[in-house]
Amino acid sequence: MQPVDSLFSWFREMLDTKPVSHGGAHGVEVFGYADIARILADTKTFSSETARKFNEPHFELDRFDEGNLVTTDPPRHRKLRTVISQVFTPRAVANLSERIERVTATLLDQVADRDSFDLVEALAFPLPITVIADVLGLPIEDEPMFRVWGDAIGALDAATVPADLLENEVGPALHEMGEYFLRHVRDRRENPRDDVMSRLANATIDGEPLTDGEMIGVTGLTMFAGHATTMSLICTAVILLDRHPEALAEIRADRELVPNALEEVLRMYPPFPRLVRVTTTETEIGGHRVAADQLVTPWIGAANRDAAKFPDPDRFDIHRNTGGHLVFGQGIHFCLGAPLARLEGRIALNMLLDRYSKISVDPAAGGVEWENPHQIICPRRLPVRVSR
Ligand code: HEM
Repeated sequence: MQPVDSLFSWFREMLDTKPVSHGGAHGVEVFGYADIARILADTKTFSSETARKFNEPHFELDRFDEGNLVTTDPPRHRKLRTVISQVFTPRAVANLSERIERVTATLLDQVADRDSFDLVEALAFPLPITVIADVLGLPIEDEPMFRVWGDAIGALDAATVPADLLENEVGPALHEMGEYFLRHVRDRRENPRDDVMSRLANATIDGEPLTDGEMIGVTGLTMFAGHATTMSLICTAVILLDRHPEALAEIRADRELVPNALEEVLRMYPPFPRLVRVTTTETEIGGHRVAADQLVTPWIGAANRDAAKFPDPDRFDIHRNTGGHLVFGQGIHFCLGAPLARLEGRIALNMLLDRYSKISVDPAAGGVEWENPHQIICPRRLPVRVSR
């Protein structure tokens, strides 16, 4: 069984037997939909400031955290969120369609003469990073560095970063990334252009320019929060449709089904399977007493497979009402990039279906290789065979 399937079996077991579990490395682990929805709604009891709480002070981490709204509580959270929301207005995102189509077409042109390739390398990895670098106004030639920094930020989604990893990999990468963004910020403050970096660089909070740390957090998050996640959506859509030929045939016949099919892909294969919170006071979750200052791990991937919310939850059903899935979080931290991720997913899948009459995962080339699904549900490698 692939590790990702073991994770889903474990979700089923925990939902059925122990929907709230204490004592593991993830603190209080919560699986049921209703309990998790309550945790995400109650930001007073369940704080997002886990990085500050659980890590030793570290200059680079603390500097990044100043502007990392995912790990910031109100009232500061609202102010940081306003800065990014000005960039990700629904209108701004809708205007990106043409750019995304252009990038997708260029990437697929590069493998046009091949009948097998790695979908991660060819499309799923470069598409979101190219689009966001373009939106921010950063040169795509810097992509090799973006890869390193993206991995470092990926390590931060665990509440605690192991000391040696922080010292030897994450810290130096955050330092390099911070200096890079600050160089661009200073440049845009002196020579503003028509790009998002210029708008972020010149944004203010309560009339004050953002501090260096806030700038690094806000730009770093904008750059990387949507990378592995959108890459995952593109890949898992292809994997699930390969496994469900009847659903694929329906979509090919009626492309209006694509948006809901992608929501169902996300429900079943949420790129972030879990979130992290910390209790600010003694509380109760699903009848269990939980002390103050406890790490709480809401497994949103399990909540999306809770039969009390989604009947027959392990069945892939592209017609399902997926409303209320927790893939993008819920409440004040709801993902700011959701419209962009959805748009990229739609364009990528539609263009793959336009270009190829058949796309299948290629077991002869080794099949799918996954990242650690407890961290992120995302293929590292996805060999496909295609026919026109
Ligand atoms: C399928 C793709 C994506 C998934 C599954 C996803 C998932 C999430 C989740 C679960 C959260 C909430 C975290 C929490 O409550 O602790 C979040 C927040 C966020 N996401 Fe996404 N995301 C995706 C794409 C993007 C993209 C494309 C961007 C931007 C380019 C983005 C930017 C953000 C930001 C800025 C936040 C912080 C919001 C806040 O704390 O107020 N995400 N995302």
